[in-house]
Amino acid sequence: MDAAPITWVTLGQCGGRRQTPHVLTCRVTLNPDLRIAPVERKLFGSFVEHMGRCVYGGIFEPGDPQADADGLRRDVLDLTTELGITVVRYPGGNFVSGYRWEDGVGPVAERPRRLDLAWRSRESNTFGLAEFMQWCDRANVEPMVAINLGTRGIQEACDLVEYANHAGGSYWSDLRIKHGHTEPFAIKLWCLGNEMDGPWQIGHKTAGAYGALATECAKAMRQVDPSIRLVLCGSSSPRMPTFGSWEATALDYAFEYVDYISLHSYFEPYGDDVGSFLASAHAMDNFIDGVIAIADRIAAKKGSERKLKLSFDEWNVWYQQRFAGHVNLEWETAPRLIEDEYTVRDAVVVGNLLMSLLRHADRVEIACLAQLVNVIAPIRTEPGMPAWRQTTFYPFALTARHARGDVLRVGLDATKYETAAYGDVPVTDVVATRDAGTGEVAIFAVNRSQTELTTLEVALRTFPRMRVVEHLTYGGHASDLTNNQSAPTRAVPHACDVGSADIDGFSATLPAQSWNLIRLTPAQADVARFRT
Ligand code: AHR
Repeated sequence: MDAAPITWVTLGQCGGRRQTPHVLTCRVTLNPDLRIAPVERKLFGSFVEHMGRCVYGGIFEPGDPQADADGLRRDVLDLTTELGITVVRYPGGNFVSGYRWEDGVGPVAERPRRLDLAWRSRESNTFGLAEFMQWCDRANVEPMVAINLGTRGIQEACDLVEYANHAGGSYWSDLRIKHGHTEPFAIKLWCLGNEMDGPWQIGHKTAGAYGALATECAKAMRQVDPSIRLVLCGSSSPRMPTFGSWEATALDYAFEYVDYISLHSYFEPYGDDVGSFLASAHAMDNFIDGVIAIADRIAAKKGSERKLKLSFDEWNVWYQQRFAGHVNLEWETAPRLIEDEYTVRDAVVVGNLLMSLLRHADRVEIACLAQLVNVIAPIRTEPGMPAWRQTTFYPFALTARHARGDVLRVGLDATKYETAAYGDVPVTDVVATRDAGTGEVAIFAVNRSQTELTTLEVALRTFPRMRVVEHLTYGGHASDLTNNQSAPTRAVPHACDVGSADIDGFSATLPAQSWNLIRLTPAQADVARFRT
């Protein structure tokens, strides 16, 4: 018997421009039954630190025309929702390692002004825990609060959990009620300090000292509220000399008492090595795989079958080489710190990093794009004018919106290219999700070639017949463009022609240095099946 004929379409070129002949091909096979894990919504988290203009002049700017009666910028709240943010880590970052949380609660007029040693800034404390919880409520995001394990310890952490989560009838919970918050804040996610492996961290510790303190802190915090979920500090970068041994030692102490181990990593180009920069997601894959291996080794050593989850709670592109370092800063209030203006190429890398997180959805449960506003951020503000979207906003928002259901295993046959930093790396990277309820499929694809188009060939024969409804592309000739105050919408993704055929497979052109979203729905005849 003859096999059923295949309907294959070639999608249109993007933007109708003349493009150079492509030379690269990437073949992808997808199967709806081969799944990695459900798309965890907490992967679309972000981070608000008392740093630069992230809080003051970012999410909070009393008196600004964009702000509401509580001083919260409405435009930033709207863009946070559009970005699809689900979880926000707060209040730091390096800031938290010198922070007294009590300074930020109670009557604003009575709050002390302090020196923030981490960023050499004057801290007014006019924004604190209650203001953050109010902001989370308005933004419809889950709070994730870091405790200070730099200058403080177990007692202050327990006091904070009691203030935030205990119903009443004790000193700290009654103080919260006196401050006007009758209902507990019910904060579930807590970070046991920040980057305690880093010599720059106030109260930096050895892995053994940190592991012992974090363990006792975790046990005591859970005695205040057994329902909380705790994140142990992993390495602040895979390039740290202690990477690996830090995780092993800290987990040897704390494995039984924590729910997650953290990872932090920032990416930037070194010199003119754009090829390695475009392969940053490959480095993120290796970092995640390395931490999983260490966590599983400690589990095996302890006779546990638990697969510890990961919290990648700081990640982004950050041009760190442009930052002179906190020791060279003048004392200022809400200074303009690391307000990187991102190119479309940076956005391609950010989109690809998010693909790496999705690919590890079976182990990475939380991830926070650092940070949310102004400080290495997808959202930018200036006083007196509406906030705008940086280039990195677009791949994040589109992924958060369309990555639904399960992450699928991708069979990928791609050409490789040589990078100075990582050796041979696939030119094309692909991640796919499928929502079993609607039958919709989203394919995220990056072409890392700086010069060549790639033809992406996707075989869908194990799916019901499908129809491509959208191909958005970001990159190509526009790689160096940015959005800024005077040109806030200069660089936006654009749509490619997708036709209207019901198909079993398709080819699409991916421009050089581009991030792409290709969305499919079940063919017209099958749509009804998914509506029930
Ligand atoms: O996000 C900026 C800084 O980067 C954070 O304060 C710190 O945790 C990391 O080193």
